[in-house]
Parts: sequence; C-alpha cells; structure tokens
Amino acid sequence: MTAAPSRPRLVGLARSDFADRLTEAIDVYVTAMDYPRSTARQRRSLWLEHSYRPGWRAVGWLDGRDRLTGIGYGYWGGPGQWWFEEVRRGLRARRGDPGAAGTDWLTDYFELTELHVHPQAQGSGVGEALLRALGRDAGRARMLLSTPEYGRAAPGRAWRLYRRAGFSDVLREHLFTGDPRPFAVLGRELPLRPADHPTHAPE
Ligand SMILES: CC(C)(COP(=O)(O)OP(=O)(O)OC[C@H]1O[C@@H](n2cnc3c(N)ncnc32)[C@H](O)[C@@H]1OP(=O)(O)O)[C@@H](O)C(=O)NCCC(=O)NCCS
Repeated sequence: MTAAPSRPRLVGLARSDFADRLTEAIDVYVTAMDYPRSTARQRRSLWLEHSYRPGWRAVGWLDGRDRLTGIGYGYWGGPGQWWFEEVRRGLRARRGDPGAAGTDWLTDYFELTELHVHPQAQGSGVGEALLRALGRDAGRARMLLSTPEYGRAAPGRAWRLYRRAGFSDVLREHLFTGDPRPFAVLGRELPLRPADHPTHAPE
C-alpha cells in the first residue's frame, strides 16, 4: 500500500533532519543552479559544517509526496568566516565611493547562505515562503546575501524575489576570490514578515 499524499508544506529543519535530507537538498541546489553533478560531493561536507555554526537555521519545502523541493539556510555571520572577510574586503576597497554602504552592514547579521527551489517547483512562491520563514526570527538585526549579477540580461527570478522582499544594494560587482563571476551583496533589516498578500505556493 502506498502512503496517502500529504499537503505540500514548509518545514523547519533541525540539524539531524538537514543531515538526513542532505542528498535531496544538494540535488535541489545542483539542479536549480544547473551545476555539474560533481559539485555535489564537495558541497556535502561544507553544508554539514555550516550546520554547526552559531545561529544556523534551515527550512525546506516538501511536496505532496514528502520530497524536498526547496531548501534555504543560513547562520550568523562574523569575522573569521570566509564570506564575511570577502565582503569586508570589498566594502573597504569601495570606501569613498558614495554608492557604497558602510561596513556597518557587517554587524549583527544573518547570512542567507543558500536558497534554492527545484525548477519544477519554481514560480509559485516557494522561494519567497522559504526566505520569509528564515527572515522572521533569524535572531539578528539584518540579513545579507550574495547573488550573481545579471549583466546584460534582464534581472532573473532571484533578483525579482530579493527586490520584492525589500533587499537593497550593499556592494555591487563584487569579485569573490576564486570566482570570475561578479556578484551583488544585498541586505535588509529584519524581521522579514510573512507576505501580506496570499502566497501562490502550490497547495
Ligand atoms: C531564486 C529562487 C530560489 C526563487 O524561488 P521561486 O519559488 O522560483 O520564486 P518566488 O517564490 O519568488 O516565486 C516566483 C513567482 O511566484 C509569484 N509569487 C511569489 N510569491 C508570491 C506571492 N506571495 N503572491 C503572489 N505571487 C507570488 C511571483 O509572481 C513570482 O514571479 P516572478 O518570479 O516572475 O517574479 C528559485 O527560482 C531558484 O532556485 N533559482 C535558481 C537558483 C538560484 O538562483 N538561487 C538563488 C541564488 S542567490
């Protein structure tokens, strides 16, 4: 007998749930980002290591058959972390540029490290639901993230989501060490409340 389908839903993932669902979570990531499968192996240990960082929180989206189709996580950022040091370097280099925000952004923040929705589940509010769940009680004054610049193309779905959720520019055209692609660092004050309008996330 097969189990009855359950309602698609957003779930908080404790560290043990995250570890149990790591293969699924990384599959969502690799598929959403269209990365080579070989990326998965390196990511496993990194994502597990992240789950032990202070302030770590993860949320997932389960479809009607309890498969993970969306994943989001992050943790409290701070000195000594690779991302913090990379962004601080970028902000310091741009001091004097009136368009650049001060390094105050890098205090008391939650870093949104990963947010991905499987392509078949995209376009109906799942990403926004995951983002808002993480931003509701992240335990920090602000949230920061980095996302690839869109270059000459129109802003993609991730950009539209972050703008809709009120994220503004902290640093643009930033080059992280070891990655030739320019990134934007975006931020906003917390909390991020649940959407005022009804979510389109599939029922
Ligand atoms: C970026 C990403 C996580 C967004 O998740 P998503 O579920 O596809 O996106 P959203 O939750 O924003 O929903 C998308 C659409 O649903 C609609 N929608 C979302 N929330 C809604 C709401 N509360 N009410 C009404 N409509 C809503 C919007 O019209 C939105 O349309 P748009 O994308 O044309 O602007 C996902 O597309 C993804 O994984 N992309 C590839 C990986 C990636 O880029 N990750 C981010 C790296 S920084």
